[in-house]
Amino acid sequence: MILERQNFMSIPKTNDNIKRAIGTDNVKQLQELGIIYQLGQSGVNEVGTKLENLDTEFQIKHDHNPIHHMEERMKDVQSLFKKLKRKNLELSAQSVRDNIYDIAGIRVITNYLDDVYQIERMLLQQSDITLTRRKDYIRHPKESGYRSLHVVVSVPVYQSDGAHDIPVEIQIRTVGMDMWASLEHKLRYKTDTNPELVDKYADQIKGFSDEITSIEERMQTIYQDLNDADTK
Ligand code: GTP
Ligand code: MG
Repeated sequence: MILERQNFMSIPKTNDNIKRAIGTDNVKQLQELGIIYQLGQSGVNEVGTKLENLDTEFQIKHDHNPIHHMEERMKDVQSLFKKLKRKNLELSAQSVRDNIYDIAGIRVITNYLDDVYQIERMLLQQSDITLTRRKDYIRHPKESGYRSLHVVVSVPVYQSDGAHDIPVEIQIRTVGMDMWASLEHKLRYKTDTNPELVDKYADQIKGFSDEITSIEERMQTIYQDLNDADTK
C-alpha cells in the first residue's frame, strides 16, 4: 500500500508569529490559495481517472488505446503570479478564482489525430463535465505552427461542505504534435539568451509542423484502412 501525503501550503490558523511577520490579510490570502491548489489537484484527479477509464474501455471494446500517455501538473506559483501580472490582474485569491483556468492541467497525448476528437467527445458527454472554453489549434494552428486542442472543463469536487465546480484545462494532441511542441518550446526559451539560434531554426521548425501533420494524416488513413480490412 502506498500512502501519499500532500501538504498544500498548510499555514496554521493560530500561528501569531506568521501573522505578525506577513500580516493577517496575507495569511488569509495564502490559506485561500492553498485551498485553490488543493481543489485543483482534486479536479485533476477526477478528470484524470475519467480519462484513464475511457481509455481502458476503448481498449477492451475496440482493441485500441486512444491515449498514448497523460501528464498532469499544477501551475507553479511563480508562473501563476507572472500570469496575473501579465494580464494586469489583482494578486488575490478571488482574482485567481475569477480569471485563471489553468491552475489544474492535464495533457493528453494520443496515438492518432482522430483520437484527439474521440477523447474530447467521450469526456464531454459525461453528465458531470461542463465545457467552459475551447480552442481548436488543430483546425486553426497558431502562427508559430502550434497544434493542439485546448478545452477547459468544469468538474464537481466534493468537499465536506458540498460540491465545488473546479476548472481543469486539458490539452489534447497527438504524439507528433507533442514532439513538435517540446522542441518549439525549447527554441522559444532561447529568444532572450540566443537570438541567432532562433533566427536559424524558427522557419524550419514552423515547416516541420506542416510536415508532421501531413505524415500523421497519412498514417491515420493507413491505420483506418488496416482496421477496415480486419473487420471484412
Ligand atoms: P496563457 O495565458 O498563456 O495561458 O494563454 P491562453 O490562456 O490564451 O492559452 P493558450 O491557448 O495560448 O495556451 C497556452 C498554453 O498552450 C501554453 O502554456 C503552452 O503549453 C501551449 N502553447 C500555446 N501556444 C504555443 C506555442 O506556440 N508553442 C508551444 N510550444 N506551446 C504553446
Ligand atoms: Mg492557458
